[in-house]
Amino acid sequence: SGMFTFDPGYTSTASCKSGITYIDGDKGELLYRGYPIDELAEQGDFLETCHLLLYGDLPTREQYEDFENRVTYHTMIHEQMSRFFTGFRRDAHPMAIMVGVVGALAAFYHDSTDISDPMQRDIAALRMIAKMPTIAAMAYKYSIGQPFVYPRNELNYAHNFLYMCFAVPCEEYKIDPVLARAMDRIFILHADHEQNASTSTVRLAGSSGANPFACIASGIACLWGPAHGGANEAALNMLQEIGTVDRIPEYIDRAKDKDDPFRLMGFGHRVYKNYDPRAKVMQKTAREVLDLVGVQDDPLLQVAQELEKIALEDPYFVDRKLYPNIDFYSGITLKALGFPTSMFTVLFAIARTVGWIAQWKEMIADPDQKIGRPRQLYIGPARRDYVPIQDR
Ligand code: CMC
Repeated sequence: SGMFTFDPGYTSTASCKSGITYIDGDKGELLYRGYPIDELAEQGDFLETCHLLLYGDLPTREQYEDFENRVTYHTMIHEQMSRFFTGFRRDAHPMAIMVGVVGALAAFYHDSTDISDPMQRDIAALRMIAKMPTIAAMAYKYSIGQPFVYPRNELNYAHNFLYMCFAVPCEEYKIDPVLARAMDRIFILHADHEQNASTSTVRLAGSSGANPFACIASGIACLWGPAHGGANEAALNMLQEIGTVDRIPEYIDRAKDKDDPFRLMGFGHRVYKNYDPRAKVMQKTAREVLDLVGVQDDPLLQVAQELEKIALEDPYFVDRKLYPNIDFYSGITLKALGFPTSMFTVLFAIARTVGWIAQWKEMIADPDQKIGRPRQLYIGPARRDYVPIQDR
Protein backbone atom coordinates (compact mmCIF):
# COMPACT_ATOMS: atom_id res chain seq x y z
CA SER A 1 0.00 0.00 0.00
CA GLY A 2 1.04 3.62 -0.23
CA MET A 3 0.42 6.73 -2.25
CA PHE A 4 1.47 6.66 -5.86
CA THR A 5 1.09 9.10 -8.68
CA PHE A 6 -1.05 7.51 -11.39
CA ASP A 7 0.55 8.49 -14.69
CA PRO A 8 -0.16 6.00 -17.46
CA GLY A 9 2.01 6.71 -20.48
CA TYR A 10 4.28 8.82 -18.22
CA THR A 11 3.00 12.07 -19.63
CA SER A 12 4.09 14.00 -16.53
CA THR A 13 6.84 11.89 -15.00
CA ALA A 14 10.56 12.60 -15.48
CA SER A 15 12.17 9.19 -15.18
CA CYS A 16 15.76 10.42 -14.96
CA LYS A 17 18.16 13.34 -15.11
CA SER A 18 19.95 13.60 -18.42
CA GLY A 19 22.44 15.98 -20.02
CA ILE A 20 22.20 14.65 -23.56
CA THR A 21 19.16 15.88 -25.47
CA TYR A 22 16.81 18.80 -24.90
CA ILE A 23 13.38 19.21 -26.48
CA ASP A 24 11.13 22.24 -26.22
CA GLY A 25 7.92 20.83 -27.63
CA ASP A 26 6.04 24.12 -27.74
CA LYS A 27 8.77 25.91 -29.65
CA GLY A 28 9.59 22.89 -31.81
CA GLU A 29 13.23 22.92 -30.70
CA LEU A 30 15.60 19.95 -30.47
CA LEU A 31 19.17 20.23 -29.17
CA TYR A 32 21.86 17.53 -28.89
CA ARG A 33 24.19 18.63 -26.06
CA GLY A 34 23.06 22.19 -26.77
CA TYR A 35 23.47 22.17 -30.55
CA PRO A 36 20.32 22.70 -32.70
CA ILE A 37 19.42 19.64 -34.75
CA ASP A 38 19.18 21.53 -38.04
CA GLU A 39 22.72 22.92 -37.67
CA LEU A 40 24.10 19.46 -36.95
CA ALA A 41 22.16 17.88 -39.81
CA GLU A 42 23.04 20.53 -42.34
CA GLN A 43 26.68 21.18 -41.40
CA GLY A 44 27.88 18.17 -39.43
CA ASP A 45 28.20 14.46 -40.04
CA PHE A 46 26.90 11.41 -38.23
CA LEU A 47 30.17 10.27 -36.68
CA GLU A 48 30.83 13.62 -35.07
CA THR A 49 27.23 13.57 -33.84
CA CYS A 50 28.01 10.19 -32.25
CA HIS A 51 31.09 11.68 -30.57
CA LEU A 52 28.99 14.60 -29.36
CA LEU A 53 26.26 12.40 -27.90
CA LEU A 54 28.67 9.92 -26.30
CA TYR A 55 31.32 12.27 -24.90
CA GLY A 56 29.54 15.61 -24.62
CA ASP A 57 31.43 17.67 -27.20
CA LEU A 58 32.05 17.92 -30.91
CA PRO A 59 35.45 16.40 -31.69
CA THR A 60 38.51 18.34 -32.78
CA ARG A 61 40.01 17.15 -36.08
CA GLU A 62 42.42 14.94 -34.13
CA GLN A 63 39.70 13.53 -31.88
CA TYR A 64 37.55 12.89 -34.93
CA GLU A 65 40.22 10.80 -36.63
CA ASP A 66 40.91 8.87 -33.46
CA PHE A 67 37.19 8.23 -32.93
CA GLU A 68 36.73 7.15 -36.53
CA ASN A 69 39.59 4.68 -36.17
CA ARG A 70 38.18 3.30 -32.94
CA VAL A 71 34.74 2.83 -34.51
CA THR A 72 35.88 1.32 -37.81
CA TYR A 73 38.07 -1.14 -35.90
CA HIS A 74 34.81 -2.84 -34.88
CA THR A 75 32.78 -2.84 -38.12
CA MET A 76 33.14 -6.58 -38.80
CA ILE A 77 31.01 -9.08 -36.92
CA HIS A 78 32.29 -12.49 -35.84
CA GLU A 79 32.18 -14.70 -38.93
CA GLN A 80 30.23 -17.34 -37.02
CA MET A 81 27.37 -14.87 -36.66
CA SER A 82 26.59 -15.14 -40.37
CA ARG A 83 25.04 -18.54 -39.54
CA PHE A 84 22.56 -16.77 -37.36
CA PHE A 85 21.12 -15.01 -40.41
CA THR A 86 20.84 -18.14 -42.52
CA GLY A 87 18.77 -19.77 -39.77
CA PHE A 88 15.92 -17.35 -40.50
CA ARG A 89 13.34 -17.67 -43.23
CA ARG A 90 14.11 -15.42 -46.19
CA ASP A 91 10.83 -13.57 -45.68
CA ALA A 92 11.54 -12.85 -42.00
CA HIS A 93 10.96 -9.21 -41.10
CA PRO A 94 14.43 -7.65 -40.79
CA MET A 95 13.46 -6.14 -37.41
CA ALA A 96 12.92 -9.68 -36.08
CA ILE A 97 16.41 -10.55 -37.27
CA MET A 98 17.83 -7.38 -35.69
CA VAL A 99 16.35 -8.19 -32.27
CA GLY A 100 17.83 -11.68 -32.43
CA VAL A 101 21.27 -10.90 -33.81
CA VAL A 102 21.91 -7.83 -31.65
CA GLY A 103 20.87 -9.73 -28.52
CA ALA A 104 23.23 -12.52 -29.59
CA LEU A 105 26.23 -10.14 -29.65
CA ALA A 106 26.50 -10.76 -25.90
CA ALA A 107 27.33 -14.38 -26.74
CA PHE A 108 30.31 -13.26 -28.85
CA TYR A 109 31.78 -10.30 -27.00
CA HIS A 110 31.96 -11.49 -23.40
CA ASP A 111 34.48 -8.83 -22.38
CA SER A 112 32.00 -6.05 -23.15
CA THR A 113 29.38 -7.58 -20.90
CA ASP A 114 31.36 -6.51 -17.83
CA ILE A 115 29.50 -3.30 -17.12
CA SER A 116 31.49 -2.44 -13.98
CA ASP A 117 34.49 -1.40 -16.11
CA PRO A 118 34.11 2.05 -17.76
CA MET A 119 36.55 1.10 -20.51
CA GLN A 120 34.52 -1.98 -21.39
CA ARG A 121 31.37 0.12 -21.42
CA ASP A 122 33.02 2.42 -23.92
CA ILE A 123 34.13 -0.50 -26.09
CA ALA A 124 30.60 -1.91 -25.97
CA ALA A 125 29.33 1.47 -27.21
CA LEU A 126 31.83 1.55 -30.09
CA ARG A 127 31.10 -2.07 -30.99
CA MET A 128 27.41 -1.43 -31.14
CA ILE A 129 27.69 1.75 -33.25
CA ALA A 130 30.14 0.03 -35.60
CA LYS A 131 28.29 -3.25 -36.02
CA MET A 132 24.71 -2.06 -36.44
CA PRO A 133 25.10 -1.08 -40.14
CA THR A 134 26.87 -4.38 -40.84
CA ILE A 135 24.12 -6.43 -39.17
CA ALA A 136 21.36 -4.39 -40.82
CA ALA A 137 22.92 -4.72 -44.28
CA MET A 138 23.31 -8.48 -43.77
CA ALA A 139 19.63 -8.77 -42.79
CA TYR A 140 18.76 -6.93 -46.00
CA LYS A 141 21.09 -8.96 -48.24
CA TYR A 142 19.74 -12.18 -46.78
CA SER A 143 16.14 -11.11 -47.45
CA ILE A 144 16.86 -10.58 -51.15
CA GLY A 145 19.03 -13.66 -51.54
CA GLN A 146 22.30 -11.86 -52.27
CA PRO A 147 25.70 -12.59 -50.74
CA PHE A 148 26.78 -10.59 -47.69
CA VAL A 149 29.09 -7.64 -48.39
CA TYR A 150 31.90 -6.90 -45.94
CA PRO A 151 32.34 -3.33 -44.65
CA ARG A 152 34.79 -0.96 -46.32
CA ASN A 153 36.37 1.20 -43.65
CA GLU A 154 37.70 3.89 -45.97
CA LEU A 155 34.10 4.93 -46.76
CA ASN A 156 32.27 7.10 -44.27
CA TYR A 157 29.61 5.63 -42.00
CA ALA A 158 26.54 6.25 -44.17
CA HIS A 159 28.36 5.58 -47.43
CA ASN A 160 29.71 2.26 -46.16
CA PHE A 161 26.22 1.25 -45.10
CA LEU A 162 24.75 1.99 -48.54
CA TYR A 163 27.68 0.09 -50.05
CA MET A 164 27.02 -3.00 -47.92
CA CYS A 165 23.33 -2.88 -48.87
CA PHE A 166 23.54 -2.18 -52.58
CA ALA A 167 26.93 -3.40 -53.85
CA VAL A 168 26.92 -6.67 -55.80
CA PRO A 169 30.07 -8.75 -56.29
CA CYS A 170 30.70 -8.49 -60.03
CA GLU A 171 29.87 -4.84 -60.54
CA GLU A 172 31.69 -1.66 -59.74
CA TYR A 173 29.87 0.22 -57.03
CA LYS A 174 29.29 3.97 -57.25
CA ILE A 175 26.97 6.22 -55.35
CA ASP A 176 26.12 9.87 -55.79
CA PRO A 177 27.48 11.89 -52.84
CA VAL A 178 24.07 13.58 -52.49
CA LEU A 179 22.53 10.20 -51.64
CA ALA A 180 25.26 9.27 -49.14
CA ARG A 181 24.82 12.71 -47.59
CA ALA A 182 21.05 12.17 -47.35
CA MET A 183 21.57 8.85 -45.57
CA ASP A 184 24.02 10.48 -43.17
CA ARG A 185 21.54 13.27 -42.48
CA ILE A 186 18.74 10.79 -41.79
CA PHE A 187 21.04 9.09 -39.26
CA ILE A 188 21.79 12.44 -37.55
CA LEU A 189 18.09 13.34 -37.36
CA HIS A 190 17.23 10.03 -35.68
CA ALA A 191 20.27 9.77 -33.38
CA ASP A 192 18.59 10.67 -30.10
CA HIS A 193 15.30 11.98 -28.78
CA GLU A 194 15.53 12.00 -24.98
CA GLN A 195 13.22 9.62 -23.08
CA ASN A 196 11.16 8.18 -25.94
CA ALA A 197 9.67 4.69 -25.55
CA SER A 198 12.65 2.72 -26.87
CA THR A 199 15.23 4.77 -24.94
CA SER A 200 13.19 4.37 -21.77
CA THR A 201 13.10 0.65 -22.50
CA VAL A 202 16.89 0.55 -22.84
CA ARG A 203 17.28 2.43 -19.56
CA LEU A 204 14.78 0.22 -17.74
CA ALA A 205 16.47 -2.95 -19.03
CA GLY A 206 19.89 -1.49 -18.16
CA SER A 207 18.78 -0.48 -14.67
CA SER A 208 18.85 -4.15 -13.64
CA GLY A 209 22.49 -4.42 -14.69
CA ALA A 210 21.69 -6.33 -17.89
CA ASN A 211 24.49 -6.32 -20.47
CA PRO A 212 24.46 -3.52 -23.08
CA PHE A 213 23.77 -5.82 -26.04
CA ALA A 214 20.65 -7.18 -24.33
CA CYS A 215 19.57 -3.62 -23.50
CA ILE A 216 19.91 -2.44 -27.09
CA ALA A 217 18.03 -5.53 -28.32
CA SER A 218 15.15 -4.55 -26.02
CA GLY A 219 15.26 -1.03 -27.47
CA ILE A 220 15.04 -2.45 -30.99
CA ALA A 221 12.02 -4.55 -29.98
CA CYS A 222 10.25 -1.47 -28.63
CA LEU A 223 11.14 0.64 -31.65
CA TRP A 224 9.41 -1.85 -33.93
CA GLY A 225 5.90 -0.70 -32.96
CA PRO A 226 3.88 1.44 -35.41
CA ALA A 227 3.36 4.21 -32.83
CA HIS A 228 7.15 4.62 -32.59
CA GLY A 229 9.80 3.57 -35.14
CA GLY A 230 7.34 1.69 -37.29
CA ALA A 231 5.61 4.98 -38.12
CA ASN A 232 7.79 5.75 -41.15
CA GLU A 233 6.80 2.43 -42.71
CA ALA A 234 3.17 3.07 -41.79
CA ALA A 235 3.34 6.63 -43.16
CA LEU A 236 4.64 5.51 -46.55
CA ASN A 237 2.05 2.71 -46.72
CA MET A 238 -0.62 5.29 -45.99
CA LEU A 239 0.61 7.68 -48.72
CA GLN A 240 0.65 4.78 -51.18
CA GLU A 241 -2.85 3.75 -50.16
CA ILE A 242 -4.12 7.31 -50.63
CA GLY A 243 -2.34 7.35 -53.99
CA THR A 244 -3.76 10.50 -55.54
CA VAL A 245 -4.42 14.01 -54.30
CA ASP A 246 -8.19 13.79 -54.90
CA ARG A 247 -8.51 11.00 -52.33
CA ILE A 248 -6.97 13.05 -49.47
CA PRO A 249 -10.23 14.50 -48.05
CA GLU A 250 -11.61 10.99 -47.52
CA TYR A 251 -8.58 10.09 -45.38
CA ILE A 252 -8.68 13.38 -43.49
CA ASP A 253 -12.29 12.63 -42.58
CA ARG A 254 -11.37 9.16 -41.44
CA ALA A 255 -8.54 10.51 -39.24
CA LYS A 256 -11.01 12.88 -37.56
CA ASP A 257 -13.68 10.21 -37.04
CA LYS A 258 -13.43 8.90 -33.46
CA ASP A 259 -15.22 5.65 -34.42
CA ASP A 260 -12.52 4.91 -36.98
CA PRO A 261 -9.18 3.74 -35.55
CA PHE A 262 -7.34 5.26 -38.55
CA ARG A 263 -4.82 8.00 -37.74
CA LEU A 264 -2.75 10.12 -40.06
CA MET A 265 0.57 8.35 -39.81
CA GLY A 266 3.53 10.69 -39.49
CA PHE A 267 1.32 13.26 -37.77
CA GLY A 268 1.25 14.24 -34.12
CA HIS A 269 3.79 13.80 -31.36
CA ARG A 270 3.74 13.34 -27.62
CA VAL A 271 6.21 16.18 -27.06
CA TYR A 272 6.09 18.44 -30.13
CA LYS A 273 3.06 20.67 -30.13
CA ASN A 274 4.60 22.62 -33.00
CA TYR A 275 6.33 21.69 -36.26
CA ASP A 276 8.87 18.90 -35.60
CA PRO A 277 12.26 20.54 -36.42
CA ARG A 278 13.46 17.22 -37.81
CA ALA A 279 10.54 17.13 -40.27
CA LYS A 280 11.70 20.45 -41.75
CA VAL A 281 15.18 19.12 -42.54
CA MET A 282 13.67 15.83 -43.68
CA GLN A 283 11.33 17.55 -46.14
CA LYS A 284 14.27 19.42 -47.70
CA THR A 285 16.32 16.21 -47.90
CA ALA A 286 13.38 14.38 -49.50
CA ARG A 287 13.24 16.98 -52.24
CA GLU A 288 17.01 16.83 -52.88
CA VAL A 289 16.95 13.05 -53.19
CA LEU A 290 13.86 12.97 -55.39
CA ASP A 291 15.35 15.62 -57.69
CA LEU A 292 18.51 13.59 -58.02
CA VAL A 293 16.90 10.24 -58.73
CA GLY A 294 14.66 11.96 -61.24
CA VAL A 295 11.26 11.71 -59.64
CA GLN A 296 10.51 15.39 -59.07
CA ASP A 297 6.89 14.65 -59.77
CA ASP A 298 6.71 11.68 -57.43
CA PRO A 299 2.98 11.34 -56.74
CA LEU A 300 3.81 10.33 -53.17
CA LEU A 301 5.57 13.63 -52.50
CA GLN A 302 2.63 15.46 -54.05
CA VAL A 303 0.19 13.58 -51.85
CA ALA A 304 2.37 14.22 -48.78
CA GLN A 305 2.68 17.96 -49.42
CA GLU A 306 -1.00 18.38 -50.17
CA LEU A 307 -2.00 16.29 -47.16
CA GLU A 308 0.23 18.40 -44.93
CA LYS A 309 -1.26 21.60 -46.34
CA ILE A 310 -4.87 20.47 -45.83
CA ALA A 311 -4.23 19.12 -42.34
CA LEU A 312 -2.41 22.25 -41.17
CA GLU A 313 -5.48 24.30 -42.08
CA ASP A 314 -8.06 21.92 -40.61
CA PRO A 315 -9.40 22.93 -37.15
CA TYR A 316 -9.21 19.30 -35.92
CA PHE A 317 -5.43 19.21 -36.40
CA VAL A 318 -4.90 22.86 -35.47
CA ASP A 319 -6.81 22.56 -32.16
CA ARG A 320 -4.90 19.40 -31.19
CA LYS A 321 -1.59 20.87 -32.32
CA LEU A 322 -0.93 17.97 -34.69
CA TYR A 323 1.97 18.68 -37.06
CA PRO A 324 3.97 16.42 -39.36
CA ASN A 325 6.68 14.54 -37.48
CA ILE A 326 9.98 13.23 -38.83
CA ASP A 327 8.38 10.06 -40.18
CA PHE A 328 6.10 11.92 -42.51
CA TYR A 329 8.85 12.63 -45.06
CA SER A 330 11.48 10.04 -44.16
CA GLY A 331 9.65 7.13 -45.79
CA ILE A 332 9.49 8.86 -49.19
CA THR A 333 13.23 9.57 -48.98
CA LEU A 334 14.20 6.05 -47.97
CA LYS A 335 12.11 4.62 -50.77
CA ALA A 336 13.91 6.88 -53.26
CA LEU A 337 17.25 5.73 -51.83
CA GLY A 338 16.22 2.21 -52.84
CA PHE A 339 15.12 0.65 -49.53
CA PRO A 340 12.01 -1.53 -49.23
CA THR A 341 9.58 -0.41 -46.52
CA SER A 342 10.49 -3.38 -44.32
CA MET A 343 13.96 -1.81 -43.86
CA PHE A 344 12.75 1.61 -42.72
CA THR A 345 12.56 0.85 -39.01
CA VAL A 346 15.91 -0.94 -39.24
CA LEU A 347 17.51 2.28 -40.50
CA PHE A 348 15.95 4.12 -37.56
CA ALA A 349 17.47 1.49 -35.24
CA ILE A 350 20.96 2.01 -36.71
CA ALA A 351 20.73 5.74 -36.08
CA ARG A 352 19.14 5.52 -32.62
CA THR A 353 21.74 3.06 -31.36
CA VAL A 354 24.09 5.91 -30.42
CA GLY A 355 21.33 7.63 -28.46
CA TRP A 356 20.43 4.41 -26.65
CA ILE A 357 24.00 3.61 -25.76
CA ALA A 358 24.86 7.20 -24.75
CA GLN A 359 21.86 7.21 -22.41
CA TRP A 360 22.76 3.77 -21.09
CA LYS A 361 26.33 4.93 -20.36
CA GLU A 362 25.05 8.06 -18.67
CA MET A 363 22.77 5.97 -16.47
CA ILE A 364 25.38 3.38 -15.48
CA ALA A 365 27.87 6.10 -14.59
CA ASP A 366 25.34 7.83 -12.31
CA PRO A 367 26.13 6.97 -8.66
CA ASP A 368 22.45 7.44 -7.72
CA GLN A 369 21.20 5.00 -10.32
CA LYS A 370 18.73 2.38 -9.08
CA ILE A 371 16.61 -0.30 -10.66
CA GLY A 372 13.58 1.08 -12.49
CA ARG A 373 10.53 -0.29 -10.75
CA PRO A 374 7.21 1.48 -11.38
CA ARG A 375 4.25 0.85 -9.06
CA GLN A 376 0.62 0.25 -10.06
CA LEU A 377 -2.97 0.85 -9.09
CA TYR A 378 -4.34 -2.61 -8.47
CA ILE A 379 -7.82 -3.18 -9.95
CA GLY A 380 -8.10 -7.00 -9.74
CA PRO A 381 -10.17 -9.16 -7.34
CA ALA A 382 -9.85 -8.79 -3.56
CA ARG A 383 -8.40 -11.66 -1.53
CA ARG A 384 -10.38 -14.91 -1.92
CA ASP A 385 -9.94 -18.55 -0.89
CA TYR A 386 -8.66 -21.31 -3.10
CA VAL A 387 -11.39 -23.67 -4.40
CA PRO A 388 -10.42 -27.27 -5.33
CA ILE A 389 -10.96 -28.02 -9.03
CA GLN A 390 -13.90 -30.43 -8.48
CA ASP A 391 -15.80 -27.73 -6.59
CA ARG A 392 -15.48 -24.90 -9.17
N1 CMC B 1 -4.27 11.42 -36.59
C1 CMC B 1 -5.46 11.77 -36.09
N2 CMC B 1 -5.69 12.13 -34.82
C2 CMC B 1 -4.61 12.15 -33.99
C3 CMC B 1 -3.33 11.80 -34.44
C4 CMC B 1 -3.18 11.42 -35.79
N3 CMC B 1 -1.98 11.06 -36.26
N4 CMC B 1 -2.46 11.89 -33.40
C5 CMC B 1 -3.17 12.30 -32.36
N5 CMC B 1 -4.48 12.46 -32.69
C6 CMC B 1 -5.56 12.96 -31.81
C7 CMC B 1 -6.02 11.90 -30.86
O1 CMC B 1 -7.07 11.13 -31.41
C8 CMC B 1 -6.45 12.73 -29.69
O2 CMC B 1 -7.69 13.30 -29.99
P1 CMC B 1 -8.81 13.51 -28.82
O3 CMC B 1 -8.17 14.44 -27.84
O4 CMC B 1 -9.99 14.09 -29.53
O5 CMC B 1 -9.08 12.15 -28.25
C9 CMC B 1 -5.44 13.85 -29.64
O6 CMC B 1 -5.02 13.98 -31.00
C10 CMC B 1 -4.24 13.59 -28.75
O7 CMC B 1 -3.65 12.34 -29.14
P2 CMC B 1 -3.02 11.27 -28.15
O8 CMC B 1 -3.11 9.91 -28.78
O9 CMC B 1 -3.63 11.43 -26.79
O10 CMC B 1 -1.51 11.77 -28.10
P3 CMC B 1 -0.24 10.91 -27.70
O11 CMC B 1 0.77 11.88 -27.21
O12 CMC B 1 -0.63 9.79 -26.80
O13 CMC B 1 0.20 10.26 -29.10
C11 CMC B 1 1.36 9.73 -31.10
C12 CMC B 1 1.31 10.63 -29.84
C13 CMC B 1 2.65 10.06 -31.89
C14 CMC B 1 1.40 8.26 -30.68
C15 CMC B 1 0.11 10.01 -31.98
O14 CMC B 1 0.11 11.35 -32.38
C16 CMC B 1 0.03 9.07 -33.19
O15 CMC B 1 -0.49 7.95 -33.06
N6 CMC B 1 0.54 9.51 -34.38
C17 CMC B 1 0.61 8.67 -35.55
C18 CMC B 1 1.80 7.73 -35.43
C19 CMC B 1 3.12 8.43 -35.63
O16 CMC B 1 3.29 9.22 -36.56
N7 CMC B 1 4.12 8.12 -34.77
C20 CMC B 1 5.46 8.67 -34.89
C21 CMC B 1 5.85 9.49 -33.72
S1 CMC B 1 7.38 10.39 -34.00
C22 CMC B 1 8.65 9.22 -34.19
C23 CMC B 1 8.84 8.30 -33.05
O17 CMC B 1 8.76 8.70 -31.89
O18 CMC B 1 9.15 7.12 -33.30
